Amino acid sequence: MRLTSFPTRPQRRTGLARWLCSALALGGIALLSGCDLNFWRMDGPQSTIDVAGPVAHDQLEVFYVTCWVTFIIFVLVASVLAYATIKFRARTEADAHAEPPPQGHGNPLIELGLIGASVFALVVIAVPTLKAIWYTHDVPVADKGEAYQVNAISSQWWFRFEYPDEQIKGVGPLVTSNELVIPAGRPVHLNLRSMDVIHSFWVPRLAGKVDMIPNRANFLWLQADEPGYFWGQCAEFCGDSHAVMRFRVIALGPREFNEWLERQMAPARTVPVPQATASNHPKAQFASYRTDWKENEKGWSESFDLNPLESWRAKQFPDKNENPELIAKGRELFQSKTCFSCHVIRGHMVGGSAAYPDLTHVGARTTIAAGLLENTDEQLARWISHPDLVKPGNHMWSEGYVKNNIKLTPDDVAALVAYLHSLK
Ligand code: CUA
Repeated sequence: MRLTSFPTRPQRRTGLARWLCSALALGGIALLSGCDLNFWRMDGPQSTIDVAGPVAHDQLEVFYVTCWVTFIIFVLVASVLAYATIKFRARTEADAHAEPPPQGHGNPLIELGLIGASVFALVVIAVPTLKAIWYTHDVPVADKGEAYQVNAISSQWWFRFEYPDEQIKGVGPLVTSNELVIPAGRPVHLNLRSMDVIHSFWVPRLAGKVDMIPNRANFLWLQADEPGYFWGQCAEFCGDSHAVMRFRVIALGPREFNEWLERQMAPARTVPVPQATASNHPKAQFASYRTDWKENEKGWSESFDLNPLESWRAKQFPDKNENPELIAKGRELFQSKTCFSCHVIRGHMVGGSAAYPDLTHVGARTTIAAGLLENTDEQLARWISHPDLVKPGNHMWSEGYVKNNIKLTPDDVAALVAYLHSLK
């Protein structure tokens, strides 16, 4: 069917208006984001541009190559389009109503040239892509430094990290939760496993994401070049609390890493109660914590964000103002409220399961609730008072509090906070 008239004139006007609007909008975005320096630096804690290790660096190179190739294509296509739009526009009233020119087959030479150029562009992208795929698949051995082994196991909605090379006599491998501590400057081989649904392991500044699939043995390797503190995130939708299934990676120099291992291998720390008051615990001074938390209220402080590695270091050693009576009361409550039936506190009580976070050294972590809240007294009180309001769907609430009818008074919460934070 042949079109008899082209509504050229009104379209030309709106066309021009659209160009103008787009230009203004782009300019506006550039100006607005210019005010926000962070936007241009792109160095947020989960930036894939601000890389800190060889794997992420290699992947970033592929990204840049792809960006440049597509940018050049964009400039070429946009220039030809702009040229054709301006040069062949309808200039007069007669132009506007004229028949379209006869339609030809095209120019074979140009078409062949375009095919050739496309193949060339794809090869330019494919070469570094393939190299990066091989690089990320070859876990470095001996000559580049033997990789350190860690098993990363995901569950709804937290991560367990096992250190198979660090066997604790009569217990098994060293286990931590939600904070993966690794040696800096050494490749780490992560065996990725899932206990339930598909999750994905992602530390943007160190390496691209890899899925954690039930009944499938995936792996990735990464390396942090320098000691540092990195944010991680589950990157595959896995249910209610997927968006808040986070973790942290802490990279340490060799000596600091070994000291950390030594502390972690030890059983839970016990704070002795002074003899005089051992018989009457109620002398404990109860702290009182905020209770008016809103559901999505931020759970960490600016000062923590400023230097998270220093915050981590500060967490490794006992607080000077510990209250032994309160800690003892918390330890009793941990047993009487049946918390120990899920959580392992190695050396303090028998119980617990690998299906739930190990709390033997929970006081030495910077975050709780799978990287969602800073591990301060106040945030821990918030978390154990109302886990359902912090992390929707979490099992501590549905399988623990609700099923076992656990009720905690503010004094119970204060004692449990003191106990858990004594576990350095
Ligand atoms: Cu686990 Cu998303």
